[in-house]
Amino acid sequence: MGFAKENDLVLLIARDRKRFIIRLTSGGELHTHRGCVKHDDLIGQPLGRELTSHLGYPFLVLEPSTHDLIKEIKRTTQIVYPKDIGYMLLKLNVRPGSQVVEGGTGSGGLTLALAQSVMPTGHVYSYEVRPDVLALARKNLEGLGLDCYVDLKQRDIEEGFDETDADALFLDVRTPWQYLAQARQALKGGGFFGSIVPTTNQVVHLIEALPQHGFADIEVEELLLRPYKVVPGRLRPMDRMVAHTGYLIFARKIDAPDASQWFAPRRGRSRARRRSEESKQNGSG
Ligand SMILES: C[S@@+](CC[C@H](N)C(=O)[O-])C[C@H]1O[C@@H](n2cnc3c(N)ncnc32)[C@H](O)[C@@H]1O
Repeated sequence: MGFAKENDLVLLIARDRKRFIIRLTSGGELHTHRGCVKHDDLIGQPLGRELTSHLGYPFLVLEPSTHDLIKEIKRTTQIVYPKDIGYMLLKLNVRPGSQVVEGGTGSGGLTLALAQSVMPTGHVYSYEVRPDVLALARKNLEGLGLDCYVDLKQRDIEEGFDETDADALFLDVRTPWQYLAQARQALKGGGFFGSIVPTTNQVVHLIEALPQHGFADIEVEELLLRPYKVVPGRLRPMDRMVAHTGYLIFARKIDAPDASQWFAPRRGRSRARRRSEESKQNGSG
């Protein structure tokens, strides 16, 4: 979209960096700490330009990214950080047309990104046990016009998922290892499994349980993101960073007599150690 239209979501960034995401309505007004911006001054106008509030304060008008939308959603639960979501979408092979199941909707931060990735032909089936939390996720998705790509279901995932042929399934709950039988049931053969947990203790429970439920190709990863101060003359990292979000665990549903054979770490010496031992034996080390 090169021009802002009525009903579009736009991002306004004030000169002091404060950000606002609004849906444009004819006659609407955004009241900020730096004055009022009339929606009619944006509708039909090009994006990327600067405008001023009634107090003469400058704002930039931009199309919001998925990252912007996730950061701004209303939340009562911890959401998955965008840095983890971006990688996860690739690892779970989520793309237009995918059928994705999610356990633990929470405020819908991840659901939002999943919906944007699977649309227009795919679908997300998201389960949440708490009605109040589910209501907030619904409101968030409706506000973004993404609710048509998501079925929100109020249920304890202990009771299982309705889907049986999902391409990918993601669990963001405290004890994901307790729901692996249900996850296996919901996934297609070879389907992608992912989860995020904040502690290594939880990771251990999960990686012990995954092979027992017929999951293989297990990976445990952690992403660190270090933002920089954008000052050309003295470019350097920010003083503070989010040091820890969660551990990402990925696996594939397989059909083999013993999934643990596809998980056990390879025994024996590493190639480097073997080379060093061989050169010592040959008298060259
Ligand atoms: C950390 S939040 C999920 C946040 C979400 N991924 C996001 O990005 O916004 C975890 C959610 O899982 C829900 N939950 C925990 N156990 C559950 C279960 N057994 N069945 C369904 N939902 C569950 C909790 O109520 C909570 O809202």
